Amino acid sequence: MKTLNDIALHRRSIRKYDSSRGLSREELETLVRFAQEAPSWKNQQTSRYHIVTSPETLAAARQCLGGSNPQKTEGAGALIITSFKHDIVGHTQGKPDNEAGNGWGWYDLGLQSAYLLLKAAELDIDTLVIGIRSAEQLRQLLSIPEDETIGAVIAVGHRVEDVQRPPRKPLDDILRFY
Ligand SMILES: Cc1cc2nc3c(=O)[nH]c(=O)nc-3n(C[C@H](O)[C@H](O)[C@H](O)COP(=O)(O)O)c2cc1C
Repeated sequence: MKTLNDIALHRRSIRKYDSSRGLSREELETLVRFAQEAPSWKNQQTSRYHIVTSPETLAAARQCLGGSNPQKTEGAGALIITSFKHDIVGHTQGKPDNEAGNGWGWYDLGLQSAYLLLKAAELDIDTLVIGIRSAEQLRQLLSIPEDETIGAVIAVGHRVEDVQRPPRKPLDDILRFY
């Protein structure tokens, strides 16, 4: 039985995927269903997932990724374009409740995404969170509605090889008790 610690340590950003191993619709639905267990502002659940699996659309979506991300996602069975419906979370009657505004929508999307990554790791499915991407090209390609802010793209597949864990900062650098 894997512990949460095992799962978190097994999860790594994977940049080389085994193209011979696909992903089923059920597996992808399992990831999103688990992501829905994350907490959200007033349980508003504004996060959305646009999942691309067909080879032609996958190839087109990979071209919307920046830098070397198209190469890094070669062989991945799916790309999940994450988004959230903006001006809802952290807002009352269209006005921001505090300085963070739609930052709370990003927060909720990040929480759900973390759940998704961990569920994938539990199932030996690998992922890469991608921030370097063209939101506008992805919006056009998939006709993502204008009331959704597009977040990260998550590549999903199976690793070709294990990769090293990038070091984490010492606790003293990030933690203060009062
Ligand atoms: C919001 C966000 C955006 C990221 N964007 C990219 C990206 O565009 N390309 C990439 O190769 N990795 C990207 N990464 C992956 C990080 O580089 C990686 O998580 C970090 O180096 C730690 O490695 P680990 O995920 O294996 O623990 C991103 C991660 C996050 C959380």
